[in-house]
Amino acid sequence: MMSDDLAALRAETAEQLAAAADLRAWDAVRVATLGKSGKLTGLLKGLGAVPAEQRKERGAALNRLKGELESAIEARRLALEDAALEARLAAERLDVTLPPRPAAPAGEGGIHPISRTFEELVALFGAQGFSVAEGPDIESDWLNFSALNIPDHHPARQDHDTFYLPAGADGRRPVLRTHTSPVQARTMLGQEPPIRVIVPGRTWRADHDATHSPMFHQVEGLVIDRGIHLGHLKGCLIDFLRAFFGIADLPVRFRSSYFPFTEPSMEVDIGWNRKTGQLGAGGDWLEILGSGMVHPKVLANCGLDPREWQGFAFGMGIERITMLKHGMPDLRPFYESDLRWLRHWASDPLSPPSLAEGI
Ligand code: PHE
Repeated sequence: MMSDDLAALRAETAEQLAAAADLRAWDAVRVATLGKSGKLTGLLKGLGAVPAEQRKERGAALNRLKGELESAIEARRLALEDAALEARLAAERLDVTLPPRPAAPAGEGGIHPISRTFEELVALFGAQGFSVAEGPDIESDWLNFSALNIPDHHPARQDHDTFYLPAGADGRRPVLRTHTSPVQARTMLGQEPPIRVIVPGRTWRADHDATHSPMFHQVEGLVIDRGIHLGHLKGCLIDFLRAFFGIADLPVRFRSSYFPFTEPSMEVDIGWNRKTGQLGAGGDWLEILGSGMVHPKVLANCGLDPREWQGFAFGMGIERITMLKHGMPDLRPFYESDLRWLRHWASDPLSPPSLAEGI
């Protein structure tokens, strides 16, 4: 039988532990019970004053109580720690699927006009069934030139003002790609036709003035299938240009030209007014992109039989079409991180381009 004072201490401690709502309160109970001047410690210290004939029994009871209290106190600590962890998990919960808050400081954070044009290209060509392909900025000279029917010593290599990197083990110097066209070859080598891709990305040429930057962006287009002809190229580009510039009757002209990797090749002009800068039926022509039917040699270089597969390709400068669309006079601010310019031209991240709402 446990004496009354011990039973009272057990009950009192159980009550105080239940009432301890956090680890601080719990620790106070622990110290008041098991600490140096705690209640149980006091009782143990008083054992010497207990008459000898009761001491053994009292000592055993105190030891049992000590064990009980220690486990009760430990159990409460574990429960409180669990609860604290649960509370923290609930409080610090982060739902990464939540959309950004529109209440963010007005005007903070916008989509750069280059990125916006990328998004518009993906939306417009996506609606024509194109998907997006990508390639690296550092490219072998074979993919950037040779595969595209621009052999060594071809004058077009000089035209491109190429940035060369130090030669690799094979003695060839890799290049910073001078156009997105190497991704034409990468795509044909990497997947079976039919192919319908656009390739938005960075390109590099050693050139710098108000309308040229050593780093700029292009978008390439490539379609490979059976029975592809010039009519497909024209329809695809006329539809794209009218939708992108938002001018339903935008005049589009296909002018015979030369690229080593297309035959026939065509540069594409759109109508504008040279005096006002206004796009549309203004009596003047503005060159906007290069295109053509994929050269049979390029198809063969990429493992396709030109008697079975045909295609067309096109490439255009992203900065150029962005400047024309928005009437921007200078190319350099695209890369200057001037906040005033960015705030003026950035678009709302919450309104991505869509065919339904207009590009
Ligand atoms: N790669 C060409 C350039 O950079 C553009 C182009 C791409 C022309 C595809 C024809 C076909 O000027």
